[in-house]
Amino acid sequence: MSTILVTGGTGYLGSHMLTELVRQGYDTLCVDNLHNSSPAVLDAVRTITGKAIPFIKADAADTAVMDKLFSSRRIDAVIHFAGHKAVGESVAHPLMYYRNNYDSALTMLEMCLKYGSALVFSSSATVYGVPHFLPLTEEHPLSAVNPYGRTKLYIEETIRDVSAAHPDFNVSILRYFNPVGAHESGLIGENPNGIPNNLMPFVCQTAAGIRKELHVFGNDYDTPDGTGVRDFIHVTDLIAGHIAALKKLETRPGCIIHNLGTGQGTSVLEMVRRFEEINGVRVPYRIVERRPGDVASCYADPSKARRELGWEAQKGLDDMVRDSWLWQQHSMAR
Ligand code: UFG
Repeated sequence: MSTILVTGGTGYLGSHMLTELVRQGYDTLCVDNLHNSSPAVLDAVRTITGKAIPFIKADAADTAVMDKLFSSRRIDAVIHFAGHKAVGESVAHPLMYYRNNYDSALTMLEMCLKYGSALVFSSSATVYGVPHFLPLTEEHPLSAVNPYGRTKLYIEETIRDVSAAHPDFNVSILRYFNPVGAHESGLIGENPNGIPNNLMPFVCQTAAGIRKELHVFGNDYDTPDGTGVRDFIHVTDLIAGHIAALKKLETRPGCIIHNLGTGQGTSVLEMVRRFEEINGVRVPYRIVERRPGDVASCYADPSKARRELGWEAQKGLDDMVRDSWLWQQHSMAR
């Protein structure tokens, strides 16, 4: 049985990851500094899985604490989610982003090399910058258009350097497209602080009456209905991609890179309409100016992950909008 350390384990993706790791029979450890999340999330994970997750409240960048943790027990792999992730905030506070995201990645890389652990790194489709072609393959040129994106890109480059110097280091870089949805229990999900930046939490809060209307950022893009097109992927599919990557790392492949997306582009208005239809609710919206920095379309070619990891997204838009709404209702009832 393997032991997996999940950093950022009380966050949106981390909590789903821990839940699935337990279900699959892994031993888990959770590290989180609770900067943007609550330890109560682990109670929900325990309710779903029937298992208490060992929790270390610490910053993943803290070398002394991490060294103590890694030396106290064998950690077979680290899944490193911890990090700041809001594009707008990264533009306002670049140093906070570089310091936090880079420091924790460096510490995890040091620990993995010192203790012989494998690493799964949360990257993002943001490293493709403005798409030159679609769908995006892993070979698409890399660039970043904001400090958040640059943290992902620089960490990826650092991993490639480390990997070149240490060919026996096993590391998986996963580039996520747009994760949405929630665990089918409705007990864990995305819990953004303040006004949500991302589409799905905003749609949910508008349907719930917390926000008056959704602002749709532009309807004059070169897309079928003029609104932005994205590759939304159900969080449980995304997490299944991590399990597939962990299994691949056991075969000692060195450094591997995969897109995690469905390959399906969905426009903002298509998403809103499907949300209304499936959930029987209204989502009032208004078309406003484009949001600076947005691209018209972004969707994955997921065939490399299918070929090499044997992974493919299973859930469709209906599951995504249904589970997102279920989570919104549960979180309001608490
Ligand atoms: N959108 C709206 N109104 C909103 C929020 C979003 O119309 O209130 C639109 C956007 O303009 C875009 C689409 O919905 O067309 C998706 O926007 P999100 O903010 O949900 O997601 P992004 O594609 O902009 O960014 C996400 C993550 C980033 C990550 C990127 C990778 O937030 O962290 O995917 O492609 F880098």
